[in-house]
Amino acid sequence: MQTGKITRRELLIGSSVMALGALSSSAHSAFLPNSGGVGFPLPWPYKKIDPQEAASISYNGFYTAACCYGTAKGILMPLQRLVGEPYTLVPLPEAIASGRGGIAGWGTTCGALVGAAVVAGFIAPLDAAESIIRDLFHWFGETSFPIYEPVSAKNVVRTRSASNSPLCHIAAGKWCKKAGKPFKHPEREEWCARLTADVTAQAVTLLNSWSEGTLGSGRRNPRTVYGAPAQYNCLECHSGGVPEMKKP
Ligand code: HEC
Repeated sequence: MQTGKITRRELLIGSSVMALGALSSSAHSAFLPNSGGVGFPLPWPYKKIDPQEAASISYNGFYTAACCYGTAKGILMPLQRLVGEPYTLVPLPEAIASGRGGIAGWGTTCGALVGAAVVAGFIAPLDAAESIIRDLFHWFGETSFPIYEPVSAKNVVRTRSASNSPLCHIAAGKWCKKAGKPFKHPEREEWCARLTADVTAQAVTLLNSWSEGTLGSGRRNPRTVYGAPAQYNCLECHSGGVPEMKKP
């Protein structure tokens, strides 16, 4: 599917241009935008990984470069060991670390979700990746975080909170309100660190099911259901009544 290829290549170009530049003088120039897509064609080989191992890497990764880096590292590091190339060739977690704080601090999509979504695009074909991502986003909204218990915790977190939204600002904001704590607080940071581990474990569980062929048909594309790209949680913002989508 041509569009799928273009979309994922654009993703690679957009997010990893620095990393790709570093590779350009090596034998792996097949990653360059003008390479015609040869070399390490997508999707990359996948071997089932342990969700708990991945979660633990993510938790510690969060304290290196936050949420987006954390999920990407948690999924990719075990694959570097189990599969090797091409996972060992691209410093992807570093390249997409700017997904933190809902992408460069803009409070949009939770960076942990961004990291998992980008990585899924390397592992699964576009349609399967989107199916995995939709399941992950739904689960994220419905889950009271954190679930993950670190072996050696950096901080305590006393408050659990569900977001009903994939948005960083809303998810973190609801936690702050419930906990009565400011955003800049070690407990909020720990909440995000554990949530990052939880997102990784769930993404890995979904990827493992997909690789075994046991992932169901997944959630429908909101764009198809609602006639426009949308989150399922309409009332979150349209609390006074959800407007009708005008017919084209
Ligand atoms: C994160 C907040 C948010 C969520 C969640 C959300 N919307 Fe919206 N939506 C907006 C904003 C902001 C606008 C711009 C118009 C406005 O301010 O009301 C808008 C506009 C729209 C419009 C166009 C308004 C018009 O009068 O034509 C429709 C239709 C709509 N949304 C439907 C939905 C549906 C259906 C859902 C759930 C599937 C949804 N929205 C979820 C924030 C949201």
